Amino acid sequence: MSGLPPPVTALRSTDSPDGRFPPLGRAWTRPPDRMHCRWLPPQRWARYADLLRRLPPQGRAARFHGCLTDAAVDAHVAGLRWPANRLLGAYDDDCLIGAIEIDLFHRDGEIAAEFSITVDPCWQARRIGTRLMDRALGWARNRWIGCIVMTTQLSNRRLCAIGRRFGGELAIDGEHVDLIFRLDPPDFTTLATEAAQRWHEAALRWSPPPGWAGAAVADTAHPNG
Ligand SMILES: CC(C)(COP(=O)(O)OP(=O)(O)OC[C@H]1O[C@@H](n2cnc3c(N)ncnc32)[C@H](O)[C@@H]1OP(=O)(O)O)[C@@H](O)C(=O)NCCC(=O)NCCS
Repeated sequence: MSGLPPPVTALRSTDSPDGRFPPLGRAWTRPPDRMHCRWLPPQRWARYADLLRRLPPQGRAARFHGCLTDAAVDAHVAGLRWPANRLLGAYDDDCLIGAIEIDLFHRDGEIAAEFSITVDPCWQARRIGTRLMDRALGWARNRWIGCIVMTTQLSNRRLCAIGRRFGGELAIDGEHVDLIFRLDPPDFTTLATEAAQRWHEAALRWSPPPGWAGAAVADTAHPNG
């Protein structure tokens, strides 16, 4: 027995007052067991502003290419418009711990998109950004979006690693780097994968854990995606 890792419940109850945050000084390399992705309808985008405001100055600089104030962050979110902008969230129960912002635009007569990922500082380096990216790339491919762009600082090693993992080209311009992803058209596998993800998302709504029922009902109201 002594060689086994402690059960997850024991880690949660002893290391974190509310059972949510990873213990300090310990590297958790996989997403939390309860993590799942859900699209945020516009009426919930204020929670995205809360997530962005939790970024420290360095994180805001990496996300926005400049350290935005709280007011500027709020103005950025207030300027988002569905359906040109979409938000895919990563949740731990009903707590938003990460999100990918998708900004659609036209380029050379085709639809392209810019992706921007944000993971709560308490949850970074646990593959949540990777999961969001995988899900968002699948979504884009299934909608015949051929080109995805991401921009950040060259020093953002995590995002550059995500870029390499998903086959992105790196275009370096001084301190900044553009990651460019060229997507193939959808096929049966990508469509079936998204259908399974949607089914899982819906199943979570139909049998929500205690305390989550209200949020689940609110989310079903919008035809996002
Ligand atoms: C960049 C960001 C989105 C990455 O999300 P994350 O959940 O922390 O990253 P992941 O855990 O999925 O790790 C991604 C990769 O970085 C690697 N990585 C993690 N910590 C690292 C470190 N300190 N140094 C180098 N690489 C590291 C991981 O090993 C993984 O690479 P791999 O799949 O090849 O092993 C997140 O850190 C963040 O929100 N940063 C602030 C905002 C920002 O910079 N956004 C990007 C602008 S678009």
